[in-house]
Amino acid sequence: MKRTAIYPGSFDPVTYGHLDIVERGLNLFDKIIVAILVNPGKKSLFTVEERIEMLKESLAPFSNVEIDTFDGLLVDYAAQMKAQAILRGMRAVSDFEYEFQMALMNRKLRREIQTVFLMTGLRWIFTSSSIIKEAAQFGGEVNDMVPPLVHRRLKEKFPKMP
Ligand code: PNS
Repeated sequence: MKRTAIYPGSFDPVTYGHLDIVERGLNLFDKIIVAILVNPGKKSLFTVEERIEMLKESLAPFSNVEIDTFDGLLVDYAAQMKAQAILRGMRAVSDFEYEFQMALMNRKLRREIQTVFLMTGLRWIFTSSSIIKEAAQFGGEVNDMVPPLVHRRLKEKFPKMP
């Protein structure tokens, strides 16, 4: 049986922290589906199409990775894609409560789907899409935290960036 995991998120935009989770997740799963939540209610910097483009380019070196979008319940999407697991990265303790709550709710909704957490690589422990966007907006240098295309796209949005 092929083991498939869904790696869900906003990916607004994808960071090296996300890529680290995908790379390490591929040691555990035969296929990873990186799934962008389409949520018109949530304000995002990049459109879904832009996020797909950045993910596609950043994940090009990896085989067995697909990029997709979903709406509605994550566990229903996972079942539809015949995935056995949901993959999430865990950074500092601050992530724990939200992740724990979400994992337990997902388990209640569909017991057969397991949530698997990978500890974020130490190098990426303090990075997040939000903090990167904030730094970029005010002219901070973030080039060692995001892939080159993401850096270019951020610079188009925030000309103050170095
Ligand atoms: O990267 P993010 O924004 O923290 O990802 C959050 C995401 C997409 C994993 C979460 O919001 C989600 O799964 N949303 C879909 C609705 C759902 O199934 N929620 C969890 C149980 S109610």
